[in-house]
Amino acid sequence: MANRVFRIAAVPADGVGSEVVQAGKTVLESLAADSDGEFAFEWTEYPWGTDYYQRTGRMMPEDGLDQLRGSDAIYFGAVGWPSVPDHITLWGLRLAICQGFDQWANIRPVTFHPGVTSPLRQVENTTPDWVVVRENSEGEYSGLGGRNLAGRGPGNEVAVQSALFTETGCERIIRFAFDLARSRQRKHVTSVTKSNAQQYGMVLWDEVFERVAAEYPDVESDSCLVDAAAARFVLHPEDLSVVVASNLHADILSDLGSAMAGSLGLATSANLNPENRTPSMFEPVHGSAPDIAGKGIANPIGAIGSAALMLSHFGLDEPASRIRHAINTTTAAGVLPTDLGGNATSERITKTIVDHL
Ligand code: NAI
Ligand code: MG
Repeated sequence: MANRVFRIAAVPADGVGSEVVQAGKTVLESLAADSDGEFAFEWTEYPWGTDYYQRTGRMMPEDGLDQLRGSDAIYFGAVGWPSVPDHITLWGLRLAICQGFDQWANIRPVTFHPGVTSPLRQVENTTPDWVVVRENSEGEYSGLGGRNLAGRGPGNEVAVQSALFTETGCERIIRFAFDLARSRQRKHVTSVTKSNAQQYGMVLWDEVFERVAAEYPDVESDSCLVDAAAARFVLHPEDLSVVVASNLHADILSDLGSAMAGSLGLATSANLNPENRTPSMFEPVHGSAPDIAGKGIANPIGAIGSAALMLSHFGLDEPASRIRHAINTTTAAGVLPTDLGGNATSERITKTIVDHL
């Protein structure tokens, strides 16, 4: 019996989700076997997702959150399949977990790997490295609004989709970003909003940012509008260290960042409940990729890198950096999946990473 046993709830869900979760599991099991009894994992796999919905009419059982509650972390694949509208699958599973467990901070590092040619040649001379901190509990994904409010009938329907910004919600994520910046070599936070056009919620965010920034004199900070931020990601990625933004803006900017690093398949993500009242969830940023699902060619690096974030969350920093190092050794050796211009299968990449642990 190992010293520490972590109970992991695996929710592979749809498409390449199950392929990449399997890859991450292989890497974690290999580390555990090699840890001299220091740690081990106990897996429970939940068969929830679009197939489950088609059988039962629900994305997960009514008591799904209660089933997950006792776990130390959730390891998530990706949800969504063309047979069911995306808002049903996303709200029924991933957002239900994130919001149900108040995983209010979504951490999305952008990592440039050796041997992977960035679409931005300029970047080759520097090594950009930043983390997107995404507000994960409110903002534009609060689910507030309604349709056809006046019952106007076909052709005249009305829809309202509101964004919710609370001072508490803004403050906790902004504070989280400053604390994270303190732990990094470059102590800098960039806040992204669109307060010129959205004069209520985003202005509240800006005011809270200014107030919190004053409490961190040792951390530099600046504010940027989201359209300018997108340009800055491309033109001056070396400027960035921690980027904090609302749910929607950070969602878009993190896909942009990972595409710059080479592919969406590389991007990692942690959905944290920083108070540890509920399990946190770790997942690759990409979706279920129906176009390549079942072919064995999904890039497993985003999911394996997310497993490293899970280990850091458990305080296992050394095994986490072994995973990151093994990923870099693998990409540097040119063992690359098809989305990065290579021809290695998911299995071969996973095996190479395990060999380099
Ligand atoms: P997607 O991320 O599934 O795919 C976008 C493109 O990236 C596709 O060309 C795909 O082949 C490629 N790609 C994604 N992951 C890859 C990997 N690991 N290796 C190699 N290539 C990869 O996004 P899309 O097509 O917009 O959405 C497909 C489904 O996934 C939808 O149902 C959507 O709602 C869902 N989705 C779920 C997410 C989640 O569960 N966190 C996040 C994003 C989308
Ligand atoms: Mg996204």
